[in-house]
Amino acid sequence: MKKMRIPFGTLMLTEYSKNLIQEILNSNRLSCGKYVRKLEKGFASLLGVKEAVAVSSGGDAVALSLAVLYEYGAKRGDEIILPALSFIATGNSVLQAGFIPVFVDIERDTLNINPENIEAVITPRTRALLPVHLMGKPCNMDRIIEIARKHNLFVIEDAAEAHGALYKGRPVGAIGDMGAFSLYVAHIVSTVEGGIITTDNEEYASILRSLRNHGRACTCVTCTLNTSDNLCSKRFRNESDDDIRFRFDRLGFSSKMNELEAAIGLGNLEIIGEILEKRRKNLYFLLNEFNKFSPYLFTIKKEPWEELGPHALPIIISEEAGFSRKSLIKYLYDNGIDSRSLFLSMPTQCPGFSFLGYKLGDFPEAEYVGKNGIHIGVHQDLEEEDCVYILETIDKFLKMAK
Ligand SMILES: Cc1ncc(COP(=O)(O)O)c(C=O)c1O
Repeated sequence: MKKMRIPFGTLMLTEYSKNLIQEILNSNRLSCGKYVRKLEKGFASLLGVKEAVAVSSGGDAVALSLAVLYEYGAKRGDEIILPALSFIATGNSVLQAGFIPVFVDIERDTLNINPENIEAVITPRTRALLPVHLMGKPCNMDRIIEIARKHNLFVIEDAAEAHGALYKGRPVGAIGDMGAFSLYVAHIVSTVEGGIITTDNEEYASILRSLRNHGRACTCVTCTLNTSDNLCSKRFRNESDDDIRFRFDRLGFSSKMNELEAAIGLGNLEIIGEILEKRRKNLYFLLNEFNKFSPYLFTIKKEPWEELGPHALPIIISEEAGFSRKSLIKYLYDNGIDSRSLFLSMPTQCPGFSFLGYKLGDFPEAEYVGKNGIHIGVHQDLEEEDCVYILETIDKFLKMAK
């Protein structure tokens, strides 16, 4: 078997993006302007929602969505329910937004929050459910929305890894009150660094525009100061003599996207159909063959009511396997296949959260995956022969390790 090179991810820098970047550089208007707005409109129409607001990162997309809740009765120190297993940003963002994260365990077969664990931790201070569609696998949104309605809670979807995922025909990220996407380089639509929040609620979008801009009182869709030489006619148009640009209505963040980042994202959006098709073909090909590695390795399953967001292929080592995660990672690496660990139980395996008082053993499923899971790329540069090579390499490893 010839050794091949299978990187974890890829970045699409299209000709369209390169030309646009040159045009933007020549125009001297680089800060959040008309191309960021174009990206927002394109992303909103992809999801079929009214609004999208671009920010600096996927982590900020989560934090700013949560900060919107302060305008609807939430108080600092209120609680947000989220799964114990996710990329650390989900938990960090809850704390950065001023809330207390309340963790619940996951289901091992979906890697997502177990909805049946949610009601037990709801208190009078709970304000929102924050499901994470990990590895592009849609959460059980019917049950999550049902619980949220019963307890009058917001639902914010962390859809960072779920570009293109569908749940019962609806795009993930467009089901709850807001959807938070990462546009980081490892994700399907990328601006290199960046994030975007989707919502059908124009009032939330307006608050988000203020939040990303230090909490400023002005909430124009695009700021004239960045797009033309005209002075802003709205600055002094208010009851007092205040300069609206230097009035700060809420505690804000510094989280705008710039035009160069938007140009890269716009190039990705132009060919999103092709990217998704190729990645999905790779992912489903690998998933269809994966059963042969049972009972030593397992992965997620595609259910008939969903399309997976083809972010990556998760691989979890079963209890029956007599080998370590390290040995699998090393074998893959020696054979040119890049991999990433499949995150950790945030409250019990990440020291930054220890002040919350959780202890190892509180989240057995998340902790198991945290110790035994990895994920590998399924990106658009991979061909069927690369996928076959991945499967053959795993097969050889298992024969050797058994
Ligand atoms: C589930 C999840 N949430 C949030 C984020 C944060 O995104 P970013 O790295 O763009 O801040 C990531 C990043 O990969 C993620 O995987």
